[in-house]
Amino acid sequence: MKIDKAKFLRKYGPWALVTGASDGIGAAAADQIAELGLNVLLVGRHQERLEKRAKACAVHGVDTRAIAADLGTPDGLRNIIAAIENVEVGLYFGSAGFGSAGAFCDLPIDEELAMIDVNCRALTALAYPLAQQMRTRGRGGLILMSSIVAFQGVPHSANYAATKAYVQTLAEGLALELEPDGVDVLASAPGPVETGFARRADMAMSGAAVPATIARKTLAALGRHRTVRPGTQSKLLGYGLATLPRALRSRILGQVMRGMTKHRDG
Ligand SMILES: NC(=O)c1ccc[n+]([C@@H]2O[C@H](COP(=O)([O-])OP(=O)(O)OC[C@H]3O[C@@H](n4cnc5c(N)ncnc54)[C@H](OP(=O)(O)O)[C@@H]3O)[C@@H](O)[C@H]2O)c1
Repeated sequence: MKIDKAKFLRKYGPWALVTGASDGIGAAAADQIAELGLNVLLVGRHQERLEKRAKACAVHGVDTRAIAADLGTPDGLRNIIAAIENVEVGLYFGSAGFGSAGAFCDLPIDEELAMIDVNCRALTALAYPLAQQMRTRGRGGLILMSSIVAFQGVPHSANYAATKAYVQTLAEGLALELEPDGVDVLASAPGPVETGFARRADMAMSGAAVPATIARKTLAALGRHRTVRPGTQSKLLGYGLATLPRALRSRILGQVMRGMTKHRDG
């Protein structure tokens, strides 16, 4: 689906806030949003990677700002909230996040709690002021990165799946709540994507989609759908599992997760 550039800029410009812009889906989305003519404010922890992305985005003739912040910390979050206070952000692409794979009892609890802070707390804390501003303006868009794991419990990735269930549910609720105010809200629920995500979670993915495709399909779905399952794997698994009882879906996805961590066994 082709995006009408002028319409996109009118509805979601002039600035976009992209979290997780230093890598993966967020980085690809930042490029494409800049290509659509929106100025981009890029957030991640690594300043150097953000600067590089900002340079790539600036090629499209837009303004860029790269702000390094750890969204899992109160200070990092406060800095970003302060940075967007006087910027007219019409699009929020909330991609910052990470996952883990393995038995819950064997995973370091500090990382699991940090995951809730980044995937849920920070995403919500940024959505709040932006949704308020967009509601006042009567236009705007929020894109929240969910996942294929969001629709049922997933053994061997239980906490990560729970964070994504939170994001999915938040997006679904906000979509209907903000629709009368002219604000579009989209949950994007991809399957495996070839990014730094698998590396950080020590997972082996096969048949993963490329981030540029996921970003493109997600941006094209904004204003047209409330949930998008971008990529073939997400569609196959998502729609294939959709009619099965929730408990059975959990078992199947648990097997998929076990497969993704098999390399650790020997
Ligand atoms: N890859 C997949 O298979 C997949 C599938 C479904 C959903 N998703 C979701 O898609 C989103 C993007 O993931 P990805 O695949 O693009 O992963 P990625 O390549 O690892 O990128 C994650 C991004 O989040 C940023 N980030 C992580 N922790 C952060 C923190 N504490 N503070 C600020 N920024 C932080 C990273 O930047 P720094 O490292 O610079 O901090 C990076 O830019 C995530 O929400 C993920 O859950 C991914």
